[in-house]
Amino acid sequence: MRPFQPEDFDAAYRLDQACYPPGIAYSRYALREFLGEPGARAWVAEEERELLGFIIVRRVRTDRGHVVTLDIREDRRRRGLGRRLLETAETWLAEQGVKRVYLETAVNNQAAVAFWQQAGYKTLGALPRYYLDRDDAYRMEKRLP
Ligand SMILES: CC(C)(COP(=O)(O)OP(=O)(O)OC[C@H]1O[C@@H](n2cnc3c(N)ncnc32)[C@H](O)[C@@H]1OP(=O)(O)O)[C@@H](O)C(=O)NCCC(=O)NCCS
Repeated sequence: MRPFQPEDFDAAYRLDQACYPPGIAYSRYALREFLGEPGARAWVAEEERELLGFIIVRRVRTDRGHVVTLDIREDRRRRGLGRRLLETAETWLAEQGVKRVYLETAVNNQAAVAFWQQAGYKTLGALPRYYLDRDDAYRMEKRLP
């Protein structure tokens, strides 16, 4: 677990493409934009210099945080990496004064919905046709301790 470095970009982009359907995965441009935002921070999980996962979060207002994405390599899921990356990011957000963290996740992404629920995120409501003007999303939120 370590902070994201510019050299991680290509591997992170490839992992994001592998994690989401075409059109939903971020373009290189979008990924760079998120990483470059002044309030954004990212961390990676790696083993022997191979990227296993990463998370990007951002502080959107003084007391609100947003999870931009959390991606874990398919063959390394259910080993606690997502949980550890999220804890690292939430700790940083709390240190910045963030009280509530929100995110969007596809309604049909059962693994992600289960993951966010176990991490304490509650569904606030649905965002109809959020992805590609077609697939619905949930807006989920957690109040940080
Ligand atoms: C969602 C995702 C990030 C979870 O990462 P992960 O490293 O596998 O998650 P963890 O191992 O930390 O899981 C923590 C807990 O979340 C829950 N969980 C995670 N994946 C789950 C699944 N497929 N089904 C049910 N519960 C799940 C479990 O409670 C799990 O604890 P347990 O393994 O002790 O039962 C991963 O599946 C992923 O990268 N998916 C593709 C990208 C994506 O959808 N990201 C979320 C975008 S909103």
